[in-house]
Amino acid sequence: MTKEELINEAIKARAYSYSPYSKFKVGSALLTNNEEVYLGANIENASYPVTMCGERNAIYNAYCHGVKKEDIKAIAIVADTEEPCSPCGACRQVLSELLPVDTPVYLGNLKSKIKITTVKELLPFAFEPKDLNAWKADL
Ligand code: THU
Repeated sequence: MTKEELINEAIKARAYSYSPYSKFKVGSALLTNNEEVYLGANIENASYPVTMCGERNAIYNAYCHGVKKEDIKAIAIVADTEEPCSPCGACRQVLSELLPVDTPVYLGNLKSKIKITTVKELLPFAFEPKDLNAWKADL
């Protein structure tokens, strides 16, 4: 599947967005090495902070279907923005732990503008699971 096709899947996922508060629909599509696609969209809540972002839902959807970190090939994230939609800080943290660091991340919008980046580039010097082990060693 090409990056354009994966971005198209993310555009389709925007239809599942539940965003009555922000009216900002985010769609995401995660591609595996065996060409399976897992979709996610942002799901909001009247208790605003409980909202879950589109890309995290795509990742959690994949994991809930048995996909492992090493099975992941790429992820696309799309919103109706002027420039390709950039993931929030919380999503960058999740991307950095649950996807291989060199995974291509395709950021898009509805105007066919694409920015290609990687998990590592989105969150350099990330807090990682091994940091927890260092903390435990100090106890
Ligand atoms: N949102 C995402 O789905 N992904 C991001 O990376 C940024 C923000 C959603 C959350 C909320 O539903 C809406 O966009 C406005 O913040």
